[in-house]
Amino acid sequence: MARPDVESVSGSLIRLAEWPPEGLSEIEVPLDGEPQSLILLRQGDQLRAWLNICPHAGRRLDWAPGKFLVDRGHLVCAAHGASFELDRGECIAGPCRGASLRPVAVSAG
Ligand code: FES
Repeated sequence: MARPDVESVSGSLIRLAEWPPEGLSEIEVPLDGEPQSLILLRQGDQLRAWLNICPHAGRRLDWAPGKFLVDRGHLVCAAHGASFELDRGECIAGPCRGASLRPVAVSAG
């Protein structure tokens, strides 16, 4: 069942009923009939999202739901320390350097 803060999910776009808080947060949405965790990054009126799946070993990046490690502006995977820049979601240090988080199209409001 969709969460009340998710208005609709199509094959290519997730529409959030409300803007998430500023910075990093997490939301679970139905994708292909299965609940899927997304990383949300809101910076003012910009919103980006990625699957909450690390390209290294497929683990979630947060250490608890919605609790992310950030070091010098980079998102750090809680499992083995891969570090991702937050413009493109590319791993810039750690065991999956050069790989990227999988982006998801979202809109809000
Ligand atoms: S699962 Fe993220 S660094 Fe290993």
